[in-house]
Amino acid sequence: MTKISVSMLASDSSKFGEEALRMQRAGVDFLHMDVMDGCFVPNISFGAGVIKAVHKVCDAPLDVHLMVNDPIRYAQDFAEAGASILTVHAECTPHLQRAVKFIQSLGVKAGVALNPATPLEELKWVMDDIDMILIMTVNPGFGGQKLIPATIEKTAQAAEMIRRSGRDIELEVDGGVAPATCAALREAGATMLVAGSALYGAPDAAEMLRILRGENK
Ligand code: DX5
Ligand code: ZN
Repeated sequence: MTKISVSMLASDSSKFGEEALRMQRAGVDFLHMDVMDGCFVPNISFGAGVIKAVHKVCDAPLDVHLMVNDPIRYAQDFAEAGASILTVHAECTPHLQRAVKFIQSLGVKAGVALNPATPLEELKWVMDDIDMILIMTVNPGFGGQKLIPATIEKTAQAAEMIRRSGRDIELEVDGGVAPATCAALREAGATMLVAGSALYGAPDAAEMLRILRGENK
């Protein structure tokens, strides 16, 4: 079954804990926490303190997406805040393999994210190491954007790389996931969809989860 990770960026941040619990009750698989530093991306969101607070009130596993420069410097804080998966951008560190291994040494799964224009070749020499690939289907920085069509083919090619590796690597896509785009992403081989505005904007989150997972036929 396709996993769904809800992006809390689209929630009402005045009641983060409640908003997380609402999605947990609806049946999401992960809470996707978008950490933005205002340098790598032109926006600032929240840090480890907020994530730790959510983790205190909510059992759903945390899928932490670090959109920050020099992620190795902050990985331990996010591991201690309760991350189950910690994803760094390939564009953010010259020491990608070291970052992946460091995250795993903290007892956390390691993902690598690629911006829409970053080639999949960046992953070639870390395929033995990573637990997850995150294909950005929009340029990172903001929720509520439209999916960039070329990223669907990119997702399919990432799925092929995973098949060839013979490893059990999660394939997550992030940005513009909606009823109109989810089927193409699932067919391309995505195993985990991030959805922010689609879920928080839906009158019935459980129903939207079924649509995104393709269970409504
Ligand atoms: C973008 C973030 C996404 C975003 C997804 O920088 O990484 O996780 O919040 O939001 P929607 O689903 O609204 O496109
Ligand atoms: Zn994200």
